[in-house]
Amino acid sequence: SDRMALGPLVGAIDQGTSSTRFLVFNAKTAELLSHHQVEIRQKFPKEGWVEQDPKEILQSVYECVERTCEKMNQLNIDVTNIKAVGVSNQRETTVVWDKTTGEPLYNAIVWLDLRTQSTVERLLKRIPGKNKSFLKHKTGLPLSTYFSAVKLRWLLDNVKEIRQAVYDGRAMFGTIDSWLIWSLTGGKNEGVHCTDVTNASRTMLFNIHSLEWDSELCEFFDIPMEILPKVRSSSEIYGLMECGSLTGVPISGCLGDQSAALVGQMCFRDGQAKNTYGTGCFLLCNTGQKSIFSEHGLLTTVAYKLGRDNPVCYALEGSVAIAGAVVRWLRDNLGIIQSSDEVEKLAAEVGSSYGCYFVPAFSGLYAPYWEPSARGIICGLTQFTNKKHIAFAALEAVCFQTREILDAMNKDCGIPLTQLQVDGGMTNNKILMQLQADILCIPVVKPSMPETTALGAAMAAGSAEGVGIWSLSPGDLTAVTCERFEPQINPEESEYRYARWKKAVMKSIGWET
Ligand code: G3P
Repeated sequence: SDRMALGPLVGAIDQGTSSTRFLVFNAKTAELLSHHQVEIRQKFPKEGWVEQDPKEILQSVYECVERTCEKMNQLNIDVTNIKAVGVSNQRETTVVWDKTTGEPLYNAIVWLDLRTQSTVERLLKRIPGKNKSFLKHKTGLPLSTYFSAVKLRWLLDNVKEIRQAVYDGRAMFGTIDSWLIWSLTGGKNEGVHCTDVTNASRTMLFNIHSLEWDSELCEFFDIPMEILPKVRSSSEIYGLMECGSLTGVPISGCLGDQSAALVGQMCFRDGQAKNTYGTGCFLLCNTGQKSIFSEHGLLTTVAYKLGRDNPVCYALEGSVAIAGAVVRWLRDNLGIIQSSDEVEKLAAEVGSSYGCYFVPAFSGLYAPYWEPSARGIICGLTQFTNKKHIAFAALEAVCFQTREILDAMNKDCGIPLTQLQVDGGMTNNKILMQLQADILCIPVVKPSMPETTALGAAMAAGSAEGVGIWSLSPGDLTAVTCERFEPQINPEESEYRYARWKKAVMKSIGWET
């Protein structure tokens, strides 16, 4: 039969904390042609622990690729037009595997995991004044359970098989991007062991100025450097897929998911920012070729380096651990909704939390507090309170947390943002978006194509040297039609609620010491 002639296509793997997707874009129009999504299981073997099965993650990628190809066949689109694949991924999540068998040596320790709280405390004792920011000049990051180095330290301390594999020279470390690229390019004995500068910048072993693994940092965490992947730019050919229908297609883009969303939202200029509502919520502001150090609890991170010979750009980042995850918690742990999208209806029925505040500090608090001792609280309850108010308070918590990181961003940058560009799964929730505009007192703007993370990875892959099929320049894409949410409540009301929220936050801190 006649195949539709569309020109070159680019695929993007978007491996997030909650789900995996594969999406295919037209390289000439950036139009999304087909996609498939699979939810990922999370394991909570102990209080505060969060793990995932690296094999299940890999399997979900295979499944998404094959199902998307099937859907394309049904649409009469020729799969062989896919000329490049980009990877974007949940960051920091840590995997160690055996390169001779291709098998993971332990579950992936997910970024949200808190088991390394004691590791962090032990390391802090060695630092003058127990200063959390001791390594910030090199890494851009405070010492926290969040980043990969402490997770890897925990694995080396606690998993005998991993110590043995390191000793035998069989061990490989990687964040999810490395695990996927290695496996997808042939795996055992053949796979390409690499990462990109954005993912490397989340490990705490990487010098964000020299763009190299740092021997002093590795010494500090006592990490053997030979197990680390090679660091590459975010846009270059890493290797060829050896994976079902896409065998032979180059993998030529790699970005941590938050960097990918920044690229997909076309935030290429200094001062441009986006906020992505996924499992967590991450506000990144491009600061161009200079790395700015935050005075207000934000991270300095590598935004992207789109090609070996292109300059590196940095970002300031406000990281919130729990956003979409609080809705999943309402579904899986409280059972007050059957599916995540029901939360919108439930919250809409009350239109206010009526004094109920929910601080979802399930993994401690990230920016701007960096308090691993915080735990979740729901407060302000009366006999009037019901599940609808709790649902509302959960959504409002996402908005308050964003307000806190936006305030920090405005202080660090000097020039306040006049509107907020948003994306991610939760932005389909109109109540949430309106609430966000109300609490920030600035408009919230949503692009018409919400899959910005995947788009960013596809752009990196499609424009790589040796691929060069992405013909759109950022200018062509900024004009996408947007949905806009204008603030509707008065600023005094907004300030009052925000002040109450801060009071609730203070109650959550120090709960678990
Ligand atoms: O740093 C963690 C982040 O990359 C996870 O993103 O979209 O899974 O919440 P997401």
